Amino acid sequence: MSELERKRGAAPVPVDWTYAPAPEARDIVSLRERYGLYVGGDWIEPHSGETFTTIDPSTEEPLAEIAQAGPEDVSLAVEAARSAFENGWSALAPSERAKYLFRIARILQERSREFAVLESLNGGKPIRESRDVDLPLSAAHFFYYAGWADKLEYAFPNRTPRPLGVAGQIIPWNFPLLMLAWKVAPALAAGNTVVLKPAETTPLSALLFCDVLRQAELPQGVVNIVTGDGRTGAEIVKHPGIDKIAFTGSTDVGKAIQRELAGSRKKLTLELGGKAANVVFDDAPLDQAIEGIVNGIYFNQGHVCCAGSRLLVQESIYEQLIAKLKRRLGTLRVGAPLDKNTDVGAINSRQQLDKIEELVQTGRDEGAEIYQPPCRLPERGYWFAPTVFTNVAQSYRIAQEEIFGPVLSVLTFRTPDEAVEKANNTPYGLSAGVWTEKGSRILAVAQRLRAGVVWANTYNRFDPASPFGGYKESGFGREGGLHGLEPYLRFESSEPFGS
Ligand code: NAI
Ligand code: MG
Repeated sequence: MSELERKRGAAPVPVDWTYAPAPEARDIVSLRERYGLYVGGDWIEPHSGETFTTIDPSTEEPLAEIAQAGPEDVSLAVEAARSAFENGWSALAPSERAKYLFRIARILQERSREFAVLESLNGGKPIRESRDVDLPLSAAHFFYYAGWADKLEYAFPNRTPRPLGVAGQIIPWNFPLLMLAWKVAPALAAGNTVVLKPAETTPLSALLFCDVLRQAELPQGVVNIVTGDGRTGAEIVKHPGIDKIAFTGSTDVGKAIQRELAGSRKKLTLELGGKAANVVFDDAPLDQAIEGIVNGIYFNQGHVCCAGSRLLVQESIYEQLIAKLKRRLGTLRVGAPLDKNTDVGAINSRQQLDKIEELVQTGRDEGAEIYQPPCRLPERGYWFAPTVFTNVAQSYRIAQEEIFGPVLSVLTFRTPDEAVEKANNTPYGLSAGVWTEKGSRILAVAQRLRAGVVWANTYNRFDPASPFGGYKESGFGREGGLHGLEPYLRFESSEPFGS
């Protein structure tokens, strides 16, 4: 035995193998019993007097009482935003605006554990994702747009960019804080004020964000948060004091908003659904592709507008790829969102679970073959096992409609032309993935895919500098990057290089 080995052998053997408490524990978040509306920098009670209960979808445990804002409440919020816009915010030196945004970004980083736990608690997503994706990206968005706030003249040279006024923002439940960041950061950087409505199933992180706004000493009324369901959203959309609407959510509601705003002077951006194709060619690195496929559809329980919900596999590797995919599915851990080993958490709501179950049933009825790995789902809460459908025809509803759940539909193709044609054969056009060893093929195929974002040999990667948005029924307008500022600005001199 060498000297070194003897020393190593002498090290005490640990006898207690229990884990230390996780840093992401439930008790680092303190919730109030009920929340009002955040208007003009203060908490107010809803005029309507109406409230509803927000729950933890993994247990159905009630978390807090939330205000249902009515028309008067929305009006108060819009007035507060208008007054903040006119009495200071729009005239503030852009470098000062930037300071607030930097502050918000830093506070989000400092409080990221608390926010990550809350996001998992209220939304059902695995803590690993809220901790490693939602929170870092939310802070990154504020940092990124903070950087542009005092450089708008350089971003849009000779166009004299000016803020629009009051932005009404309506966001969904799949990435509650991140969607707030995507909307609030560019709006403020451009000099606007905001009335934002979080989704009715996930209001808590937006309400905790009000605390961040106070900590950052953001002037009162610059950001107002009103909670409620679609009725509150509709009030924001039609309110005459709003200059711009930014909406992320279902295509149906997006279309209704567009109809409502037709002929008005309000600006509109819509980020709607998707049915993305993840296209795997026979020369792709298969093990990597499997990881990309899994990340593409099971990330956030498939509650992702750009999810790779249609897998297009080249016929020659079909058997091999499906065998590998099924094996990999067996290793996914479904369960408690706050357990850091969980890969797939809870479905966000009863309503969403019903929708997934209904569409999966149509898949069976229409003749597709279903595969689910053996896994025991908790008895309480909303759960759905990771699912793969093979033997899917393009006409099936599961190949055409957004399921917004952990359900993958597999189709095959023989040639690149066929792959492109099938990939584009949906009413949507938000995102797509291409897997191949050939760089030239990536470029050739990506160019022909009618999708706002195309990932190559990866999937679901986001960066605040990169614009995101869709074609066709996936909506219009871009968020992220320089493109994401434009919808929040008007240009006094539209001639490039002035007159
Ligand atoms: P939704 O479109 O009804 O909800 C999104 C947001 O819009 C929520 O804040 C909601 O309160 C608000 N809203 C609802 N009706 C409104 C109206 N008439 N006017 C203004 N705002 C309104 O989406 P929902 O019902 O939660 O989900 C249904 C389906 O939509 C999902 O299964 C999924 O397919 C899709 N969806 C897509 C999202 C995306 O990121 N593109 C996000 C959420 C849902
Ligand atoms: Mg709805």
